[in-house]
Amino acid sequence: DAFWEGHAIVDIEPKDPSPKHWTERLPAELQAKPASFWPSAFETQGDVLLVKLEPEVRPHGKAMAVAMLNHMPSIRVVCADNGVEGDFRVRSLEPLSSRDGSTHTTTTVREHGFEIQVDPGEVYFSARLSNQRQQTLERLQAFRQRLGHPIVLADPYAGVGPALPLLLVEPDLVEGFLVGDLNPKAVDLLKTNVDRWAGRAGQSFAPSTVVCEDARLWSNDEHLSGKAHAVLVNLPHDSFEHLPAMFPLFRQEGESLLRGWTIVERDELPRQKERLERLVQEAGGEPLETEISEVKGFSTTRCFAMFQTLFRWQ
Ligand SMILES: C[S@@+](CC[C@H](N)C(=O)[O-])C[C@H]1O[C@@H](n2cnc3c(N)ncnc32)[C@H](O)[C@@H]1O
Repeated sequence: DAFWEGHAIVDIEPKDPSPKHWTERLPAELQAKPASFWPSAFETQGDVLLVKLEPEVRPHGKAMAVAMLNHMPSIRVVCADNGVEGDFRVRSLEPLSSRDGSTHTTTTVREHGFEIQVDPGEVYFSARLSNQRQQTLERLQAFRQRLGHPIVLADPYAGVGPALPLLLVEPDLVEGFLVGDLNPKAVDLLKTNVDRWAGRAGQSFAPSTVVCEDARLWSNDEHLSGKAHAVLVNLPHDSFEHLPAMFPLFRQEGESLLRGWTIVERDELPRQKERLERLVQEAGGEPLETEISEVKGFSTTRCFAMFQTLFRWQ
């Protein structure tokens, strides 16, 4: 009619909406399985996707990984996550499918605006603790105000070093650092990461030490002991057992701050606070402010908790 000025009117099918969920990209014969059959959660670290598989899903792991790769363009490799192993807390990963054939798990994550090189197949890292790292910055800022000068920080269980970037780039907060891990693969990544963050900080740090060493032996090394104002202890299954070996790392004058994370029975929290204060006293310190608080649940009776004590050397 005149309104359409003679242009043809054509009926066409609406375009198929693109799949909203990766399961819609599974081969037709697997689409019949109920949604509850497939894993409902997964984790990504950079371009690596980690997914726990129930035994009945395992035979379809490859098809599942291909569907995930098709659905998530930023993922390079999909790995089955068979759980955490050993003292290094490293996951046992099994590559299921890769976009470009590469199955290594070295990758880069972003947190608080910083790039962190990680390798979930070789070194422990958890993005879930990023709030704790923000809180570490706030606690160390308050401690630095109290001391009246920048601090030397020790992080002997540093992994790839996620606690550090926020602290190193904060103007006038950290004067020097001693960081390390017992896992040599962690220390390789830690060195790369720390170099980049220290460069971004635009100041020099003294000391600026990165070591691959058992943290309990730092006390035997004059380059590693007697220097720190603040020590981080992130070995949640064994933190308290390691604590006596941490006190020699402090400068042992004025005030010090010890901050760490532990896994404990929830109803043991008050007793753990007393235990922490006792350890400080046995090491020759007077506890000024001590706290221990749940960060998140770990099992029905146990929780992941943060502990911190500010103390004065006698
Ligand atoms: C729970 S992870 C914490 C890593 C890091 N601080 C983070 O927040 O991602 C514990 C780390 O301690 C390291 N580790 C285990 N035993 C150690 C020891 N005796 N001395 C030094 N590091 C150790 C492990 O390799 C692991 O990287």
